[in-house]
Amino acid sequence: MNPATVGPPVADPPTVVFDGFDPAHRADPYPRYAVVREATALYRSALGPHLVTRYAECAAALSEPAWSHAGEAELFHPDVDQHELPASFLWMDPPDHTRLRGLVSKAFTARRVLDLRPRIAQIVDGLLDAALAAGEVDAVESLAYPLPLTVICELLGVPAADHDLIHRCAPALARGFDPDLLLTQRERTARSDAAAELLAYFAHLIASRRAEPAADLVSELGAVQERGDVLTAQEMLATCVTLLVAGHETTVNLVGNGLLALLRHPGQLALLRARPELAAPAVDELLRHDSPVHMTTRVARRGLMLGGQAFAPGEGIVLLIGSANRDPRAFDRPDELDLARYADDAGTARHLTFSLGIHYCLGAPLARLEMEVLLTAIVRRVRRLLPGSTGPTYKPNLVLRGLAGLPVQVR
Ligand code: HEM
Repeated sequence: MNPATVGPPVADPPTVVFDGFDPAHRADPYPRYAVVREATALYRSALGPHLVTRYAECAAALSEPAWSHAGEAELFHPDVDQHELPASFLWMDPPDHTRLRGLVSKAFTARRVLDLRPRIAQIVDGLLDAALAAGEVDAVESLAYPLPLTVICELLGVPAADHDLIHRCAPALARGFDPDLLLTQRERTARSDAAAELLAYFAHLIASRRAEPAADLVSELGAVQERGDVLTAQEMLATCVTLLVAGHETTVNLVGNGLLALLRHPGQLALLRARPELAAPAVDELLRHDSPVHMTTRVARRGLMLGGQAFAPGEGIVLLIGSANRDPRAFDRPDELDLARYADDAGTARHLTFSLGIHYCLGAPLARLEMEVLLTAIVRRVRRLLPGSTGPTYKPNLVLRGLAGLPVQVR
């Protein structure tokens, strides 16, 4: 069976009004997802393209390369001069995607990620020392940002003195993943400015590493070769900015959303304390339960069927990963946080948080490792993790949905 044809014909959806993208629901879009998901697998949204609401149809589209990710700019950023933003392989089709992903994978290996464990543990310990000394902190600023930011910057070879520049620029690019019609003019300008600043920064860093290579990913990307093929200067630049932004703005949301979930489910935190070996599967449950990436897009490269509906070449869809991960057709008790879900039941469906198919997240092992080390350290060192004096706040971001602030008490 062609995976792109899964699912029954679509019911007529006009009785459902989906307002899940309204900022009023940023803190909890899940009840709105449930309403639209139960009504229909494909919902014609105010954004234009159909929203794909269910697990089977999202998984089918992600697994089918004829559903291209190269058209995201046309769907979400139709007026942007494409030279402004990095030409990342995240938004390419084969054969360009295959070639670039192959070259980058040669430098960004599983071994390289595994070797980072002791350094990640050291960074986590330093951050927890400071948090424990303070007693009450904003977990976003004091844990969720600095952990992945430091890790990805060190991996790439960005000196510590420049981490602030990265921290200043990257959020504007992350917000810029959202459809342009949801952005203010100021946010669009901030995205262009941030892209220009980061591209200029990495052009300089790449040039200095070419002159004097170091033991970092920027130097290795410059040296990587496969059958005589190398990355061009533009490809190097786009890859560095992609790894930087994809490599921390997502993981920030994993840490923030994950800690909030633990605060809201003290029984699950107690379970993790009792069974610290659950840390690794717990990360996957946290990724499923409150996904750091809520949606992605695809455009049909040829005529395709999805959810019983025909799509002409050029037609786009928005895949609601956050909704698919809570689909009761795929998961038992989908709204429940069950940190043992991926430990005890080998039959549990894969979550779609890291996507599927050819664009499956290249950094998934790194993101998992960072969160696993953090959870392990928290249950070992923090005896009381409690909500702070004020509640959590959310960033306006729709695609890379996560917290702006999370006051916590740590003892
Ligand atoms: C919790 C953290 C993360 C999440 C939720 C996440 C999610 C995703 C998703 C959903 C995609 C594919 C999008 C699509 O198919 O349309 C993706 C691709 C990608 N991610 Fe991640 N990511 C995370 C962390 C990282 C890290 C730490 C890195 C690098 C250090 C990274 C690098 C990449 C790259 C390079 C791609 C493009 C892969 C391709 O197109 O072949 N990500 N990520």
